Amino acid sequence: MTTTYKIAAIPGDGIGAEVIDAGLEVLDALCGQNGEIRLAVDRFDWGSDRYRRTGRLMPEDGAERLRAFDAIFFGAVGAPDVPDHVSLWGLRLAICQPLDQYANVRPTRILPGIKAPLDGVKPGDLDWVIVRENSEGEYAGQGGRSHRGLPGEVATEVAIFTRAGVERIMRFAFKTARSRPRKLLTVVTKSNAQRFGMVLWDEVAREVSADFPDVTWDKVLVDAMTVRMTLNPRSLDTIVATNLHADILSDLAAALAGSIGIAPTANLDPTRRAPSMFEPIHGSAFDITGKGIANPIGAFWSASMMLDYLGEAAAAQRLLKAIEQVTANPDLHTPDLGGSATTRNVTDAVIKTLRGFNT
Ligand code: IPM
Ligand code: MG
Repeated sequence: MTTTYKIAAIPGDGIGAEVIDAGLEVLDALCGQNGEIRLAVDRFDWGSDRYRRTGRLMPEDGAERLRAFDAIFFGAVGAPDVPDHVSLWGLRLAICQPLDQYANVRPTRILPGIKAPLDGVKPGDLDWVIVRENSEGEYAGQGGRSHRGLPGEVATEVAIFTRAGVERIMRFAFKTARSRPRKLLTVVTKSNAQRFGMVLWDEVAREVSADFPDVTWDKVLVDAMTVRMTLNPRSLDTIVATNLHADILSDLAAALAGSIGIAPTANLDPTRRAPSMFEPIHGSAFDITGKGIANPIGAFWSASMMLDYLGEAAAAQRLLKAIEQVTANPDLHTPDLGGSATTRNVTDAVIKTLRGFNT
């Protein structure tokens, strides 16, 4: 029996197109193997080019159109000549917020063959899942500017924390921690300095923890967290933090695991009312756009997360295994990993490895 999934591919800007093309090729090879999974892919030209042509990164009803799909495979957004806040709010957040993809999941691991910058830290020593609150907090979009250009100009950027929003991400994080062997959760806040929203986080964490007696959890302030991630990575497993804190910590995590070119992410609506969105973390990287050297592993790993979320755990695992076999070979490392392989080389190698599994 064949199951068909409708996938919306949004390559976006910069290297987004290169890595999404590579990802779709790999998915095609993977799904063609046993004929059980079919992906019906629609491609959308949304992004900064479209903004230059039409004044909008995506059509006004863009998010609504995406509801017809089972998942969204997203590349990157951001261009040198478009202000970053315009491109972010015009595309990525314009999808995540209306579709209420409130849980952003960022696994970080040192893959085989990858040289991580921390001395003595081996694969297995750093194996984390960062759960980022993805709908409110510092990215709620509340604030404003007045008296523009005057010496008294005022700008506010209001972080919003709702009990419902904090509780749902906390439950998601405890469940994620429970699903992993160590059943260990670290809740990150800044409740010493920020005494309202962050104290609410602390309180809700404690309340929710009562429903997860099998999960060990602790709290850490975000500044101290950077030290702990660097000096004691083994002490961490699942991590939950606010939208901005987790944004920053996930870049640190990606760097500590060897390269931001590898890191994947999932923007999930755990209620499954809306499709979820899967994307590499790296962004549009205009410095290397068009050179054919972008690392496609972040997109491949994101594709694996997408399959897993769609219920195709076996295919997701096969793809992850192929990724690991390819990263284990330094000849197949792209320049971000210190090698000289191209996007093409890595893509071909993953496809060849996948084919090898069948014989
Ligand atoms: C990320 C990115 C985005 C964010 C950028 C592109 C606005 O850094 O996904 O981590 O801050 O959310
Ligand atoms: Mg970021």
